[in-house]
Formats: sequence, structure tokens, C-alpha cells
Amino acid sequence: MKQLQVALGSRSYPIYIGENLFKDNLFEQHIKSKQVVIVTNTTIEPLYLALVMQQLEAYQVETIVLPDGENYKTLAYVETIFTFLLEKKFSRNATLCALGGGVIGDMGGFAAACYQRGIAFIQIPTTLLAQVDSSVGGKTGVNHILGKNMIGAFHQPQAVIIDTQVLASLDDRQLAAGIAEVIKYGLIRDIEFFIWLENNIEKLLLRDSAALAFAIERSCINKAEIVSQDEMETGIRAILNFGHTFGHAIETGMGYGKYLHGEAIAIGMCQAALLSQQLGYLTAADVLRIKNIFEKTGLCVTAPKDMSAQTYVELMSVDKKNINGDIRVICLHAIGTACLPMAVETSLLMQVLNSYNAD
Ligand code: NAD
Ligand code: GLY
Repeated sequence: MKQLQVALGSRSYPIYIGENLFKDNLFEQHIKSKQVVIVTNTTIEPLYLALVMQQLEAYQVETIVLPDGENYKTLAYVETIFTFLLEKKFSRNATLCALGGGVIGDMGGFAAACYQRGIAFIQIPTTLLAQVDSSVGGKTGVNHILGKNMIGAFHQPQAVIIDTQVLASLDDRQLAAGIAEVIKYGLIRDIEFFIWLENNIEKLLLRDSAALAFAIERSCINKAEIVSQDEMETGIRAILNFGHTFGHAIETGMGYGKYLHGEAIAIGMCQAALLSQQLGYLTAADVLRIKNIFEKTGLCVTAPKDMSAQTYVELMSVDKKNINGDIRVICLHAIGTACLPMAVETSLLMQVLNSYNAD
């Protein structure tokens, strides 16, 4: 088992990565209460709930099982968690375990951030995407019909427990969507990792366990370093949003759940790469190299045909990075080096989106 640390002073916490971790008793040292609630969904419950429950025999455990899907990542479903906790008389010292992908992690984390002004929680991520990104860093929240992840809170977990074995039941489409976030780390700050990914993507797609373990660990190292430097995203943390300004617009514009998050941001990263080329940072060959790695992963890089540049721009005007109404986007100075968010004229965005679509 590998152990990393998100260094945040008194709110520091470990990320455990390994096989069969649900069988190692990692939970006890991070649970200070008798009451434990597990938040999961209808897909994960039959697969992994019993395994986790076995580790929690010493506690009073209740489970809330939510419907599965990005379109249920709403305030209304977080409210069902609150109602459940109140009905079951959960106290302020209770611990919430979020067992699932990024949707469950974001919603469970947000419920933990708000319930009685904040209770402890543990992330038990079960998708690749959640293992390499969403479970680390304390961003929690839900979607709004007008914008992705627009309602939320920063709330750090007590621990992140990544059992790589659970990826065996993940389907290929979800695996590829998770690899999109893995590639992101290479693009924004880790050229050596990007080159490794170019050479090893097939191994990841074939679920080679050593390759997956390496990619998860390297992604978590990158994420933990950034979060430790800038927990509340006042600066450098924004680079983790590379491709997301475009990608979130696709998710919202097409209807939550139509494009998986990883699929939408893969297209978004290619669009942001084209913008970086237009701004004179990347070459055409760089943009092609970026598109190639996503295509090799089996991700579609063609933007949704029925979404106009105007619609993107309207949706991009609702983004947490924007300041004073300016749309701010993360670009790449080079493959492996992202720059801080920069305000981009609407006319340039429209031009990039139209030429991307025409490609
Ligand atoms: P998801 O949570 O919807 O999971 C994808 C699907 O896989 C679901 O149907 C889920 O039930 C299923 N699943 C999960 N684990 C499985 C397993 N082991 N075996 C079989 N099926 C399994 O999607 P996701 O890609 O994990 O997360 C996407 C969400 O994460 C988005 O809402 C996105 O906004 C959010 N996100 C948050 C952050 C953050 O920093 N908080 C970062 C990136 C993404
Ligand atoms: N996934 C973006 C962040 O954690 O900041």
C-alpha cells in the first residue's frame, strides 16, 4: 500500500492507495464517532457496500442509497441526505463515508460540509476519475440547471481510501473518462508523466494493474501538491480546471449525464489547446499531439454538433473562475505547463469554437 499526504496543517489527511484496502482496517483511525453514515448509490451498493460494512462492525452504521447519475447531483438529493441524517438522529460528531464515484463524493462531501455546519467525512472513491481527482482536495457540491458545480463548499475529508481492485467492475467508457483527468495532470504540470502516458495508454486501457497503480499515484501526487499550495483556489489550483470551462459548458448545455464529465473535459482540453495555439503558445503539432492522446484513449474529440459557439459562451459566462463578468480560461504555455486563468475576449472564444467545430 502507498500512502500520500495532503499537507494542509491541522486539516492534513492521508490518501491510501492499494489493492484490497477495504480489507485492511484503515477506517478505525479516522472515525472518532459511534455513528457512521455511508452515502452510496444503487450501482455501488450491491458491489461494495457489504465489504465496507465488514470494516465498520464496531460502529452504528446507517446507509443511504441514492439513485445513480449526474442528473441526480442536485440540492434536492443532498436534502434527502439531510432528512435521513435528522430522522436517524445523527449528531455533529458523526462521520459520513462517501462510497462511489465523483457524483457520490461531491454530494456526500457537500452534505458533510453543511450538516450541522460540518461533520467529518471519508472519501472511498470507486471510479478512476474519483480516485485520481474528485476525492482529493475537498471540493464538494452539486450542479444547478444553469451551471455545473455552482453550489458547493470546500470541505476536506479525514482520509481518502483508494482500493484499486474496485476498478475491475468499472466499464470501459468510465475508465476512459477517468483517463482524461489523468492526462490533464500531464498536460498542466508534468511533461514526464505525459510522455509516460503516451507510451503506456494501452496498458491503462487493458487495466494492467501496475500501470494503473502508477497512474493513480502520480495523479494523486500532482493533485495533493497543488491542493497543499492553494486549498481555496486563490491561484495555482485553478490550473486543475484546464479544459473544464469548455467541458462544463458541454455538460450543462447538452444536459447533465449525456456526456460523462471526463468525455466533456477531454473535448474541452482540445478546445483550450486550440485557444492556446491561437494565443501563440502552442504549435499546431502540439494541438494534434494532445488530440491524439485522447483519441488513443478512445475518447471522442469532436465537439457536439448541435451546440453553437453562442451557447458555449453563454454557459461559460457562468463559471467559478470568472471575475467581474470576464470569462477566464486556463491555457497551456506548452505541453506540461499551464498558465493561470486569463480573461479571453468573447470574439476570440467564438472564433476558436467555430474553427474547432469546422475541423
Ligand atoms: P460517477 O460518480 O457518475 O460514476 C460513474 C458511473 O460509474 C456511475 O454510474 C457509478 O455508479 C459507476 N461506478 C462507480 N464506481 C464503480 C465501480 N467500481 N464499478 C462499476 N461501476 C461503478 O462519475 P465520475 O466520473 O466518478 O465523477 C464525475 C463527477 O465528479 C462529476 O460530477 C464531476 O463534476 C465531479 N468531479 C469533481 C471533482 C472535485 O474536485 N470535486 C473533480 C473532478 C470531477
Ligand atoms: N478538480 C478541480 C479541483 O479540485 O480543483
